[in-house]
Amino acid sequence: YEINQDKYKEYYEILSDAHEFFKNSIKNDEKALKYMEERGFLPKDIKKFEIGFSLNERDELFKYLIKKNFSEKKILELGLVKRNESGAVYDTFRNRVMFPIYNPQNKIVGFGGRIIEKETDLPKYLNSADSVVFKKGKELFGLKNRGEAIKRKGFAILMEGYLDVLTVKRYGFETAVASLGTAFTEEQASLLKRYTKNIIIAYDNDEAGKNAIIRAGYILKKFDFEIKCLKITENVKDPDEFLRKYGKKKFVETLKKSVDFYNFLFLEFTKNLNIEEITSKRILVKKFKPFFETFENELDKELYIQKLSHEIGIEEKYLRQEFESEKSYTKKDKSNNNYIKKNSFDSKVQY
Ligand code: UTP
Ligand code: MN
Ligand code: MN
Ligand code: MN
Ligand code: MN
Repeated sequence: YEINQDKYKEYYEILSDAHEFFKNSIKNDEKALKYMEERGFLPKDIKKFEIGFSLNERDELFKYLIKKNFSEKKILELGLVKRNESGAVYDTFRNRVMFPIYNPQNKIVGFGGRIIEKETDLPKYLNSADSVVFKKGKELFGLKNRGEAIKRKGFAILMEGYLDVLTVKRYGFETAVASLGTAFTEEQASLLKRYTKNIIIAYDNDEAGKNAIIRAGYILKKFDFEIKCLKITENVKDPDEFLRKYGKKKFVETLKKSVDFYNFLFLEFTKNLNIEEITSKRILVKKFKPFFETFENELDKELYIQKLSHEIGIEEKYLRQEFESEKSYTKKDKSNNNYIKKNSFDSKVQY
């Protein structure tokens, strides 16, 4: 491990110096400052959260790093610059506010960059490419200082976006983290487990967000987390917008009302079902199958079987049977919903 640290030393130095360059570039850039101000970040917040800017220039970062005698090969390997067909090197990130991504050893391993232009065909966010020091699926955004805040507070808030994390932190919720534009992974769950076993999932307030909560929840459950889910009933896109519109007090109330993962699923799964009907009960049991297949802890599983049994009036032994029978169909057909559509009437059937 020590040897590796040494081997990657220059990569970390490049990233750290690139960060310096980005931070310096935002100081006098009116457009970038204006963009961040519109999103609620004053210069003192920009400083606190170490936000930078990548200039809308061809190769300013590249020239800066080369002047510092870093290896061109390594700069390229980190994805900070690219080479075009004619051999010219240009900066990857341009005209973006830049957010540093820290690894658990508190070293910068990459960046997320948000375009500040409103009308553009460019992707809204760019993330550093994977490299020898950065694997997107293994890192979390928001872990600066080795997850110290999460350990201290005893929980983490898992979010979708960079700006969700930064805004909730700005409002004083220091324990926010996000996966980096990819679905939440087992590696990220295992990383979080080093700091806490309590998670509040606070994804975006849309269908995609709800489905992502379900997927992340199953992963977190495998790692035996206590999982709560934020229920946003207000008409806002995400926690960032929620806080800016309704403020801290209301966000705390909403955090307090966040529901246990099981309850979240129950509410989601029964949304279009009348659970007095036999067909609906059958659909619900099928929907719950993946939940009951990912228990690490037998006692918890029994307790939830009891709960479901009482809620829908099916004897526990039948539920147990259903959830213990071979896991064939979820293996064959990962999408539980497809299974249901193929086998039952769903609520959308047209007569
Ligand atoms: P969202 O589309 O929800 O964006 O993507 P956001 O975070 O709310 O962004 P703002 O508020 O418009 O600035 C959630 C996350 O998905 C990744 C980013 O990590 C983003 O924060 N993403 C999104 C990308 O990697 N690339 C994209 O083009 C868009
Ligand atoms: Mn989203
Ligand atoms: Mn947003
Ligand atoms: Mn969002
Ligand atoms: Mn009972």
